[in-house]
Amino acid sequence: MKIAIVGTGYVGLVSGACLAEMGITVACVDVDRRKIELLNAGKMPIHEPGLAEIVARNRTDGRLSFTLSLREAMWKVDAVFIAVGTPPDEDGSADLRYVLEVAEGIGAWMNDYVVVVTKSTVPVGTNHRVKAAIAAALAGRGASIPFDVASNPEFLKEGDAVSDFLAPDRVVIGVESERARRVMARLYHALSLNNVPILYMDILSAEMTKYAANSMLATRISFINDIANLCELVGADVEAVKRGIGSDTRIGSKFLNAGCGYGGSCFPKDVKALIKTGDDFHHDLDVLKAVERVNERQKGTLFRKIARHFGDDLSGRRFAVWGLAFKPGTDDTREAPSLVLIEQLLCAGAAVRAFDPVAMGETRRRLGDAIEYATGMYDALEGADALVVVTEWAEFKVPKFTFIEKALKQKIIFDGRNIYDPVQMKEFGYRYYGVGRKDWNEA
Ligand SMILES: NC(=O)c1ccc[n+]([C@@H]2O[C@H](COP(=O)([O-])OP(=O)(O)OC[C@H]3O[C@@H](n4cnc5c(N)ncnc54)[C@H](O)[C@@H]3O)[C@@H](O)[C@H]2O)c1
Repeated sequence: MKIAIVGTGYVGLVSGACLAEMGITVACVDVDRRKIELLNAGKMPIHEPGLAEIVARNRTDGRLSFTLSLREAMWKVDAVFIAVGTPPDEDGSADLRYVLEVAEGIGAWMNDYVVVVTKSTVPVGTNHRVKAAIAAALAGRGASIPFDVASNPEFLKEGDAVSDFLAPDRVVIGVESERARRVMARLYHALSLNNVPILYMDILSAEMTKYAANSMLATRISFINDIANLCELVGADVEAVKRGIGSDTRIGSKFLNAGCGYGGSCFPKDVKALIKTGDDFHHDLDVLKAVERVNERQKGTLFRKIARHFGDDLSGRRFAVWGLAFKPGTDDTREAPSLVLIEQLLCAGAAVRAFDPVAMGETRRRLGDAIEYATGMYDALEGADALVVVTEWAEFKVPKFTFIEKALKQKIIFDGRNIYDPVQMKEFGYRYYGVGRKDWNEA
């Protein structure tokens, strides 16, 4: 079986490599020449645990290739996946420019029956537009070639993308013909053998499932953050509350970590896009509007705590920031809370020296010389007035506190992910500020 995947980003590259690992022959296409050249030179354009090994193995075995040419990639394929970006437009809706561009290209180069699978996260109804764009391109060249569209939204998490793809909780597939369903079943045969549920449904429901899933997860995060803020006011500890509610099997403990807000390339834009779909249908998604509002406010929580401690004018102050990626395990800094915090610190006159195990290059590309880049986690602390933890990388969780205390000017920690124990921090002589935690500083 042979497929093409158009768009070789986090989703396209991981999907391509993992499907090759399952025995499919995959050609990955991208318009980004640098990316394709890197991949053809055996280098990785993104950081994703385990991906480099799978890419290398499948390239060597001849099942995975990279090209700039959609025409070449589409030669005798059973399916073409669209995995390009769908960034938010100015009004919050998903910008479908790239998806529809690719659909036209597929119509232009298609030479036999093919299933066109949308893997990008797209608003309900987009597959109909994909189908129309392909049909128009076919009509433009006077061709009449049968094809089907299918929706196969992706649920992988950056940082765990490979394991999520190879062992997902489920695969969601929206189809409208038996022929397309059979192609998709062959494609995911290896996963069905491993008892992964393959959930077939209509296309509109598959498209909606993806947005509903991300919106539900974002809702849990904003919910616990809202509760955390109230915990601070009433003197409760959100970590205890989380244990208390998370052990209820109806609730569960995942995605209930209080912190400094969600970021990344998916939750913020998908929540916005679903709200816009609601608006388009004159249906107010009140819950999601609140989810978004709470998250925007939460991204400012660390700065508010810092300003409360040091005052609004931070001229002459210096802060060590640990963690720049929007979450551990990835170099992705899109919509990262760290960027909001850094901007607020710089605006208030402070200097920032930051460290992240993998997202330094990505941050330098965005922020240039506005901040200093440390060579290691302890190097970031040198002469700083306080340490601010923004991303919960494993190596930050059990640091050498003696190193921290030697390097910092003052023993102050702002912990945006609640990775330290406030009681222990007090015993070690730190002023400690977590999120939604009982204040032990004066106790
Ligand atoms: N990143 C995630 O964790 C994740 C998870 C699930 C779903 N998604 C969804 O998957 C889609 C892709 O996300 P991503 O994070 O992989 O994006 P990305 O920005 O990492 O990659 C998109 C790629 O598409 C390429 N591209 C754009 N136009 C093209 C064209 N005409 N032809 C060929 N290539 C083209 C870009 O050069 C880029 O390499 C989005 O809709 C996103 O919402 C992302």
